[in-house]
Amino acid sequence: MQCSRTVTIVILAIISRVSSLSFDAERQGISTSGDHKFIAPNFTNGDQRGPCPALNSLSNHGYMSRNGVVSFRESAAACIRVFGLGEDIANLLAIYGALFDGNGTYYSIGGETPLVKTGPSPFNTAKGLSNSHNNYEGDASPTRCDLYLCEEAFLLRLEYFIALYNRKAKNSDAGYDINVFFDHYKARRNNSIFTNPFYFSCPFNLIATAGAYSFSPRLMANHSAEHPDGRLYGEVLKSFFAVSGAEGDFKYKEGHERIPDNWYRRSLLAPYTLLNLLEDFSTAARRNPNIVAIGGNTGQINSFTLADVGNLTFGAYNTRNLRKGNNFACFAFQFFQAAPNFLETLGFIVFALVDRTFLTFLDAVGFNVSRTLSCPTLERYDVIALKNFPGFNRSLNDNKQ
Ligand code: HEM
Repeated sequence: MQCSRTVTIVILAIISRVSSLSFDAERQGISTSGDHKFIAPNFTNGDQRGPCPALNSLSNHGYMSRNGVVSFRESAAACIRVFGLGEDIANLLAIYGALFDGNGTYYSIGGETPLVKTGPSPFNTAKGLSNSHNNYEGDASPTRCDLYLCEEAFLLRLEYFIALYNRKAKNSDAGYDINVFFDHYKARRNNSIFTNPFYFSCPFNLIATAGAYSFSPRLMANHSAEHPDGRLYGEVLKSFFAVSGAEGDFKYKEGHERIPDNWYRRSLLAPYTLLNLLEDFSTAARRNPNIVAIGGNTGQINSFTLADVGNLTFGAYNTRNLRKGNNFACFAFQFFQAAPNFLETLGFIVFALVDRTFLTFLDAVGFNVSRTLSCPTLERYDVIALKNFPGFNRSLNDNKQ
């Protein structure tokens, strides 16, 4: 039994590797015309766009509802079909959106809208991804501002985009690869520590941070016969981030994220799965150990203090072992898995209303991750270790409003 499972895993890994090295223009080409032509959002009519460039582009091209109010099923399906995202991570992200920032089934990819209600009163509207600080949206994002630095933390800030863009020589063959993005994370984190008195790296949304940095090189790259494993160059990056104009004269237009013409996604036989994401995060953490420091500023800039990870996890992890092997990936996933229970204890979501099939799904994915990465067992955690961080406390209050 164990042997046949191992054989299956090896065969799937070989298929995935071979598929990532072959290119099929017909299957991988993504239409940007006809039903899928770009139509800019109509904000005065209530269309919603928010912090995620990929979801914004999917709505702009009609791969999911153009008004930006989506069910978790349609958004997961669109991410799988258009970007080659793995089913596991697509469903987890989409269900999280619906659970924390929507009504359990639907969510807004932007702000509040009367189309997503959590109760009978017109005032019971869900917050949407734009207002999801520390349950989804976090500090030190690639191109978005920290919440306590700018009011509108869901908008792109050109200064950060240009810093990212300038990380790569225009003609470099490798383009914007995963190392470029995680180096940018290191710089963005330092920038937050030096400018945001309330900077906080929240354990519950580390997976969203990992995705925010790995998804561009892994999922927005263009594929071709010459580069079947995909390359992300400047023009494609600009298009997905709603930036236009020549170097030195870049302009950002809110909500205008576009899938580029003649863009070819990764092969669906080699989807980017949760395990791929966790492996990328582990590799990045080994390369840049600072990015695994959990903690935050204590109310003043440049006052970064480590959280007591030992107390937080009842000894399952400590600051030193967090840097070893796959431990940081395990830690990030286990806190992601714990987030619904944590938010329920605080009364932010009513777990009884949550679809039980999701919980079964989350358990199955968790079992697979723990076994494959040989994770330490996290039986309990105590957020008292986070209470000294004003960024953590503020976000809880924000979420309560
Ligand atoms: C249902 C699936 C998805 C959901 C619910 C989702 C949600 C989010 C959220 C809440 C953020 C803000 C995170 C933060 O500020 O730290 C974000 C950022 C981001 N997402 Fe997504 N996302 C999804 C799928 C994708 C896909 C498929 C891609 C790539 C093709 C992607 C690319 C990005 C990028 C690059 C950012 C960072 C934006 C920036 O700060 O510059 N996302 N996403």
